[in-house]
Amino acid sequence: MSRILEQAQRRRTFAIISHPDAGKTTLTEKLLLFGGAIQLAGTVKGRKASRHATSDWMALEQQRGISITTSVMQFPYNDKIVNLLDTPGHEDFSEDTYRTLTAVDSALMVIDAAKGVEARTIKLMEVCRLRDTPIITFVNKLDREGRPPLELLDEVEKVLGLHCTPITWPLGMGRDFKGVYHLLEDRFYLYSGDKHRVSEIETIDGLMNPVLMERYGSVYQTLRDEIELLQMAGTEFDLEQYRAAKLTPVFFGAAINNFGIRELLNGFTEWAPPPQGRASTVREVEPSEEKFTGFVFKIQANMDPKHRDRVAFLRVCSGAYKRGMTLHSVRLGGPVRVSHALTFMAADRDVVEEAYPGDIIGLHNYGTIAIGDSFSEGEELRFTGIPNFAPELFRRVVLKDPMKAKQLNKGLDQLCEEGATQVYRPVANNDIVLGAVGVLQFDVVQYRLKDEYGVDSVFEPVQVHTARWIDCADPKKLKEFVEKNDTRIAKDHYGDLVYLASSNVNLNMAKERFPDVRFSETREHG
Ligand code: G4P
Repeated sequence: MSRILEQAQRRRTFAIISHPDAGKTTLTEKLLLFGGAIQLAGTVKGRKASRHATSDWMALEQQRGISITTSVMQFPYNDKIVNLLDTPGHEDFSEDTYRTLTAVDSALMVIDAAKGVEARTIKLMEVCRLRDTPIITFVNKLDREGRPPLELLDEVEKVLGLHCTPITWPLGMGRDFKGVYHLLEDRFYLYSGDKHRVSEIETIDGLMNPVLMERYGSVYQTLRDEIELLQMAGTEFDLEQYRAAKLTPVFFGAAINNFGIRELLNGFTEWAPPPQGRASTVREVEPSEEKFTGFVFKIQANMDPKHRDRVAFLRVCSGAYKRGMTLHSVRLGGPVRVSHALTFMAADRDVVEEAYPGDIIGLHNYGTIAIGDSFSEGEELRFTGIPNFAPELFRRVVLKDPMKAKQLNKGLDQLCEEGATQVYRPVANNDIVLGAVGVLQFDVVQYRLKDEYGVDSVFEPVQVHTARWIDCADPKKLKEFVEKNDTRIAKDHYGDLVYLASSNVNLNMAKERFPDVRFSETREHG
């Protein structure tokens, strides 16, 4: 086996999807703890403190440092190298959150046992479905009274359309939560313990072991009854079904107490897929190929005025990145100098010596890299599937000083290429409408327009509910649609036509009246 293939097959690159407060931050920290990347839980707390301050983060340059280092966390576990990509949540939820999901090979879905499947999780699952990303489920907060596990599985199946296969099953819940039964190993993991450290856990083998009845009585009896129901329902684990994103293995636990984490991590590193082949405009690129390729899925600006640089996050798709290497930017058609790339070992930023398929490297740049850019050793191929997502929030930009229109346009074009916002220019007037999926994106854009381009602007509410990219096989029909709806048509940064719907009803009516026009929720780069 070639060295590249061998390294690629060790990689497990994933992201956590969840609704705010389900426990993503806590679980991230515990995964790092069990992965040996941090010694004591509590280290990742910096992020929590920052959470409440996100909307005034512009002043807090240091926080940018924190969020850059936590964007990608790499640690070895068993014989694998795990790359955990952070998906911004809460107020920092943005299009980056969606795009990060295009750079992973699998996802871990965290569900709060009391709340079940929530709105944000449904949205993120829709994005995962675009690429049939395999999902492992972790039902969290079993140390509190939650909903019956069987009911939760039923909800995942119904709402998300994913077949559930429990791998572990909780023994008790709330105060009575004692541990989990591992269905494949036929073994109980019984917790006590220190929530800050990784401690030894007691195990008891065998579902029918008489010790269990003696110790846990009715709690154990409930588990037995539930396991019997599961066995009757026939929910066997099938690796291929999981990798085809049709089935999700489910683990139960309480991240806060380290309960169920090791079992989760073991299952994850064993089953989650290594990097797979990726579609490009010319061909499918295999990770085992000798030549380096990769694409940029996120750009983060450094808010420190002394270092007005940006870090572009690139996912390696094939070959190996070696320090000092010259990368060919397919969009610019030439080399882009990369003085030193960053890798992300837990909390530190280090200079990378080498990186393999599945790894993420951070490239310093000063505006020469855009979201969706593909890099190679010279081959003209563009990776597909790194789209823009239809925004849900809209603002009209008003200049305080009309003389600054040129700077405004330049700034918006740049910010758009970095994925900070989307820009729409209505065909019927001179408005500029910005679109975002997270409200903080507007704050960032407004701040950066002022700070980097010297443009003072006001963002006003605008009567737009959602946006769809439009096209049609028949140019005449498209023209007719555009003419009849000219007040709602705009062009995006790339010149593509967009329909700015005033409401869902309005969008549905447009679709009904013009059945030949295609309304897309995503738009490919390039
Ligand atoms: P998020 O990143 O998904 O938003 O969730 P986060 O980890 O920040 O967790 C949200 C809240 O849920 C936190 O409480 C956290 O302590 C709690 N939590 C996480 N995992 C568990 C668990 O297994 N059991 C229980 N009972 N709670 C859990 P908080 O009150 O918002 O913050 P804190 O003051 O406790 O840190």
